Amino acid sequence: MNRTNIRIEQPSDYRKVEEITRKAFWNLYVPGANEHWLVHTMRSHEDYMPELSFVLEKEDEIIGSIHFTRAWITTPSGEEAPIVHFGPVCITPELHRQGYGRILITHAIEQAKNLGHRAIVLGGFTYHYHPYGFVGTKKYGVAMTDGKFYTGIMLLPLYEGALNGITGKIKLSDALTPDQSGLEAYDASFPPMEKLVLPHQADFVRAASELDDLLPAAGVP
Ligand SMILES: CC(C)(COP(=O)(O)OP(=O)(O)OC[C@H]1O[C@@H](n2cnc3c(N)ncnc32)[C@H](O)[C@@H]1OP(=O)(O)O)[C@@H](O)C(=O)NCCC(=O)NCCS
Repeated sequence: MNRTNIRIEQPSDYRKVEEITRKAFWNLYVPGANEHWLVHTMRSHEDYMPELSFVLEKEDEIIGSIHFTRAWITTPSGEEAPIVHFGPVCITPELHRQGYGRILITHAIEQAKNLGHRAIVLGGFTYHYHPYGFVGTKKYGVAMTDGKFYTGIMLLPLYEGALNGITGKIKLSDALTPDQSGLEAYDASFPPMEKLVLPHQADFVRAASELDDLLPAAGVP
């Protein structure tokens, strides 16, 4: 593998990061993509965590990025236990499945751990995140906001006993659901790419709604 470097994202990286994000997600989960708009807007949100926003460089060129926002577990008594969320994460498509994502994600997890965070929550395909120890939130008795447990909503505690005594519901930052009204004009500032309806987009719809029926939930009668 060629020389790689990971560093905190700088404002001068923003456009390049958004270009790669757009390319990496284009037609992947929906026709077109909105993750570049998400990255673009989340940076100015109060829940954004610049100290955990990394770019991965190969031979001094940015090839991937990862972004974190604050998240919480709301316990039955109404307390909000702070955790963190990561996503979007991406590697430029020509370099997929060559170990670069693993380098970036492993680094980001280590840094979140070093900063003393309790746990990371994220949503996505299980095959992307099980290799790092993420598992469906049901194992920890933590449901999604609708009270249901999904296989694609996963948690990774960052230290021994980090989630002891903490059950409840995930609360994600509204930085993750930006107003989409600016997306079209923003997207037009990039080179045109064709939006396509593709068969694999249905996998995402299925994965995003798959309920976790396998395990009884921890701490939930
Ligand atoms: C997800 C992503 C960041 C992974 O980066 P990557 O460099 O391709 O992944 P790696 O080569 O480091 O893979 C690490 C491990 O993850 C798993 N994995 C990654 N992509 C996978 C895939 N398409 N299918 C199954 N397992 C996969 C494998 O266990 C892999 O290890 P292996 O290759 O030794 O089997 C990258 O594919 C990407 O940018 N995808 C498009 C955007 C996206 O879907 N982001 C995630 C949702 S927010």
